[in-house]
Amino acid sequence: MSIEIFKGPLIDSIGRKRFSHSLRVMETAVELALVHGVPVKRTRIAAILHDCGRLKDCTNLEKHFKRRNIILDSDSGLNTNLHHAILGRYIAYDRFCITDIDILNAVRYHTTGRIDMSILEKIIYLADAIEPKREYEGVKEIRKMSVKDLDEAMMMSLGNTCSYLRSNKTEIHTNTIECLEWLEKDRK
Ligand SMILES: [Fe+2]
Ligand SMILES: [Fe+2]
Repeated sequence: MSIEIFKGPLIDSIGRKRFSHSLRVMETAVELALVHGVPVKRTRIAAILHDCGRLKDCTNLEKHFKRRNIILDSDSGLNTNLHHAILGRYIAYDRFCITDIDILNAVRYHTTGRIDMSILEKIIYLADAIEPKREYEGVKEIRKMSVKDLDEAMMMSLGNTCSYLRSNKTEIHTNTIECLEWLEKDRK
């Protein structure tokens, strides 16, 4: 499956700017896939589609949730920034015909992480966080670490997210806390 077939429909639904971000995420994800031994083809598909739920002309995603009988958990219900990943997993399946569960999970969990993430899921999470146009304190260190040690880079990135959310008095999703604890436990 060539990612070319996603280009037109994706630009229509998420807009050119978000599509350009997805291309950068894809390039970064492919670099990580080559280093960490993940099939490039699946990585390209997961990366190009990771933000397919971030619909450009839709500030209220409620109708899309209703149509698909999606019920938000209490954590996600509060944080609208997480909604596009929940919806994206369904759009990847019903609009882009993706049935590979690893790709669907990579789309679903790219905002929060989760316990038992696959290597592909970690790569998409990190590629989104470190693509070349991302600029924030600590991004260079996460970029360097991501080619050496994926789990260490995940812990750095999740830790950053937690600090950022705490300083903005935004609730941290349970999946994020659990993911961080899971990775830390594995290190001991
Ligand atoms: Fe996203
Ligand atoms: Fe993204």
